[in-house]
Amino acid sequence: MQIENEKKSQNEGNYTTSAFTKYPLLVSRFKELISSARSPYHYYAWGALCGADLAKELKIPRISLIEMGVAGGNGLVALERIAVELEKIYDIKIDVYGFDTGHGLPKPKDYRDCPNQWEEGFYPMNEEALRSSLKKAQLILGPLNNTIESFIKLNPVPIAFIGFDVDYYSSTIDAFKLLDGSEALFLPRVQLYFDDIMGYSYGDFTGERLAIAEFNNEHASRKISNQYGLRYFVKDFYSMWPDMMYIFHIFDHHLYTQRDGMIQPRGSLLPLTKHHL
Ligand SMILES: C[S@@+](CC[C@H](N)C(=O)[O-])C[C@H]1O[C@@H](n2cnc3c(N)ncnc32)[C@H](O)[C@@H]1O
Repeated sequence: MQIENEKKSQNEGNYTTSAFTKYPLLVSRFKELISSARSPYHYYAWGALCGADLAKELKIPRISLIEMGVAGGNGLVALERIAVELEKIYDIKIDVYGFDTGHGLPKPKDYRDCPNQWEEGFYPMNEEALRSSLKKAQLILGPLNNTIESFIKLNPVPIAFIGFDVDYYSSTIDAFKLLDGSEALFLPRVQLYFDDIMGYSYGDFTGERLAIAEFNNEHASRKISNQYGLRYFVKDFYSMWPDMMYIFHIFDHHLYTQRDGMIQPRGSLLPLTKHHL
């Protein structure tokens, strides 16, 4: 009966009630989180929440959340607030980092950076104002092709979420150097958000989508994949952000195959229903 009710409910477009997945719990925590963190950055909240949830399942007590591309700092302040709330929900510690040049976009290198949309100097930062608004997030300033390497050497705790918002193909490629770090740098699956992949002149052959395709071609056991159909689970049908959520999979991570609690105990798993006998 439970299964029949559940299928009926799914046919009516309700994917968040399934007793067999973690989505009902995640969605209710998500709603609380965006209200308590007063965050319009729903995609950061969802990514950070799923990351914290995975860390808890894997008994990892401290994680890192990252924003690549900070500009004035609205996103970083939001991520910081989200982290503070998640620390309470999951009883874990969370470090927050924001990477930026500190003075806006560098010069675009070629057509792959979509210079039809952006130019050098867009999105400058008022560093002093931002630093005085931040409570725990650390700003890492400089071009990504310098700062990523030094960040890795600091041995940060495992990364659970990265928001990519550096606009250009070339900057995204620089940011992806982080994804070549040792497995100790990451949870086995890292929640990702890509800001510049929907609408306008974005496509498969420029910008962030091209960087993702190249990364996947060049790596056999690490892949960046879209979280297909997420909009049906978070029931945010009218926003684009669920289509902009990806996962960085590290297939050879020693924790990759460990269960992460998406399914309830075996006894309740899909027995043949009366209806089909
Ligand atoms: C659109 S803004 C980020 C907005 C921010 N995420 C928010 O939601 O408020 C893009 C930022 O990426 C940074 N950026 C682009 N390329 C970079 C690079 N190669 N190194 C460091 N920062 C870069 C720019 O300085 C710019 O501030």
